[in-house]
Amino acid sequence: MKTYKIAVIGGDGTGPEVVREGIKVLNAASQKGGFKLDMTDFDFGGARYLRTGEVLPATAVDEMKKFDAIFLGAIGHPDVKPGILEKGILLRLRFELDQYINLRPVKLYENVHTPLKDKGPEHIDYVVVRENTGDIYTGAGGTSMEGTPHEVAMQAMIYTRHQVERCVRWAFEYTKKRNKKNTLALCGKTNVLTYVYGLWERVFHEIGAKDYPGIKRDYYHVDATCMWMIKNPEWFDVIVTGNMFGDIITDLGAITQGGMGIAAGANINPDGVSMFEPIGGSAPKYTGKNVINPMSAIGAAQMMLEIIGEEKASKLIEDGMKKTLLKMKSMDAGKMGMSTTEVGDDVADNIAKS
Ligand code: IPM
Ligand code: MG
Repeated sequence: MKTYKIAVIGGDGTGPEVVREGIKVLNAASQKGGFKLDMTDFDFGGARYLRTGEVLPATAVDEMKKFDAIFLGAIGHPDVKPGILEKGILLRLRFELDQYINLRPVKLYENVHTPLKDKGPEHIDYVVVRENTGDIYTGAGGTSMEGTPHEVAMQAMIYTRHQVERCVRWAFEYTKKRNKKNTLALCGKTNVLTYVYGLWERVFHEIGAKDYPGIKRDYYHVDATCMWMIKNPEWFDVIVTGNMFGDIITDLGAITQGGMGIAAGANINPDGVSMFEPIGGSAPKYTGKNVINPMSAIGAAQMMLEIIGEEKASKLIEDGMKKTLLKMKSMDAGKMGMSTTEVGDDVADNIAKS
């Protein structure tokens, strides 16, 4: 029987609670799919940092490379200054494991409320391919004369052709494989960020024209992308963009698909170890109350199986999620009409019965 080694990082706040439900569902799916998941827990997160003073052990990245995938809950602790855990754990793993794609589906399921008037599941079903290793996120920059009226602060937007090419190529391949509208849109800002998005635009059209003649190419400035994501989400199929714009537009996308309770993402290294996570944060105020929505973690688990090659089992999870979603009153913590564990049990049950 095929066995996959999964590293589990529950993390902070409600992270461990939602991951627990994800694992419940993964176990149900693996039984049906005829494969095994061998899970190993890691205690990375704010609590460990406060206890030991160490954000991530020196061996952590090498350790992670021994796994087939990483399942992450949430990183972020109210007693730790913003930036330390995000940069030291989440971004470090994304960068050092070279997870250069951040795949974030924006999909509205039946019975899930969207704040977009007159839009339903038939209108909201697209995917954002966010570049995940470059951009302002690299941390290049600094300050001088800090604390004086002449203080200078600088943070640079950096992209190499290599980074842009591999991301754009992956996005074209994904659009082709998805085979829905066969349309890839570049989201940029070529009217102001002429250097960086000039590079993106050239690469996008070069690769598209040469290797993907069957894929239609669209272009939107990032500000306009935000407008159309609200007014005409049905225009989109796959959107490819840089790290910073991708971060911003995927929160906007998430709220149109029901919010942080349901939005999931995958940090993918196509040739290495990928990491799957709910997009929502650690939600400290709901910790330990059994009220947080685990659907986002279950969605991350579903993406994990798809990416590691267990597509049938992944589909079983999605079908199971859809049935449970029909019973839920809301995607918001405490308003679901079900507890965290009940949602996980219900999805697992749907899978077992399928
Ligand atoms: C996300 C988050 C992270 C990011 C933060 C927590 C560093 O907002 O995954 O979208 O900016 O990438
Ligand atoms: Mg974000």
